[in-house]
Amino acid sequence: SLPPVIAIDGPSASGKGTLAGIVAQTLGWHQLDSGMLYRLSALAVMRKGILPTHEAEIAEVARNLDVRFVGQQVLLDNDDVSDALRQEEVGALASQIATYPLLRQALFERQRAFRKAPGLVADGRDMGTVIFPDAKLKVFLIADVDERAQRRYKQLIEKGISANLSALLEDLKARDERDMHRSHAPLVPAQDAKIIDSSTLSIEESVAKVLAYWAEVN
Ligand code: C5P
Repeated sequence: SLPPVIAIDGPSASGKGTLAGIVAQTLGWHQLDSGMLYRLSALAVMRKGILPTHEAEIAEVARNLDVRFVGQQVLLDNDDVSDALRQEEVGALASQIATYPLLRQALFERQRAFRKAPGLVADGRDMGTVIFPDAKLKVFLIADVDERAQRRYKQLIEKGISANLSALLEDLKARDERDMHRSHAPLVPAQDAKIIDSSTLSIEESVAKVLAYWAEVN
């Protein structure tokens, strides 16, 4: 039978990436950061000078992405793009092209290929609903939008990147709106998802909740 999957979905800056990373490390499982594939597609599109409206060409780029993961580094066409992927323009374009069904289809099998023994922790928007509907545990991580803006602001400042809190807040709201209301694979909790509100939880507390849910279903 297929290796087990823990799906962690939720809005931007809810902390799902950090949570997924710690859970994967604790269990000794593989990890899929699906947002990174959308960001890689966006970056490749920018670098090739393809117009953001050209859905079919964008899907083709995504299907042929030349990506390698070397330790903590992400290589796109042999170029280390780990930092470039985190840029706001890349995230904004990723969120825009993520509305395209052809792009989502192009990334479908690539995401499913991450499912390997002993297990996979996958985070994104549609892990539990579309990519791994048979995930043994589905978590939907939410957090108050002001709290998420604060967290992102702190992260950027700590990295020495200048940031504007109210602009970040507006950007998160716009991205939530787009992710939740797109017609294809919108951001919604799977019917059988466990909702965790991390607004008032530390990372450790969120991790403990996920591991407790996992112990229940396993
Ligand atoms: O998670 P992250 O912010 O890196 O994702 C970048 C963008 O990719 C999101 O704004 C979202 O629109 C899109 N995405 C998606 N489905 C996923 C993961 C990310 O549509 N499973």
